[in-house]
Amino acid sequence: PATARFYSDNIVSHYENPRNVGSLDKNDVSVGTGLVGAPACGDVMKLQIKVGDDGRIIESKFKTFGCGSAIASSSVATEWVKGKTVDEVLSIKNSDIAAHLKLPPVKLHCSMLAEDAIRASVADWKAKQAAKSSEEGETA
Ligand code: FES
Ligand code: FES
Repeated sequence: PATARFYSDNIVSHYENPRNVGSLDKNDVSVGTGLVGAPACGDVMKLQIKVGDDGRIIESKFKTFGCGSAIASSSVATEWVKGKTVDEVLSIKNSDIAAHLKLPPVKLHCSMLAEDAIRASVADWKAKQAAKSSEEGETA
């Protein structure tokens, strides 16, 4: 069908078989949660990372209430963050995700949601670490 040719194999596989759907415990201090919305369409994406003691992301999950391209973008994002440090993942660009999935121009904001969600999850994780170390400072 025409639509199958329009989308790349990558996006079809991430549509049909999104990776890492689910949730991590948002109260776990090693988990960062990013919740972002797309003003253009109102779609919402939650992306979570679990960071190991060495500062590398060991697990990532997402739940996306949005279009197929947003779900595929989340799926790619959760695959790409694994094994990287919290600072390395900040260089993942929505344009890289869009290129990987061969998203058409009208769907670029869907991949932007994934970039924003990665950044938000890292910011949440960093805020938790800062809160943790100030608590430790007070009790020391
Ligand atoms: Fe899934 Fe590349 S095909 S991340
Ligand atoms: Fe809004 Fe895709 S149409 S995230």
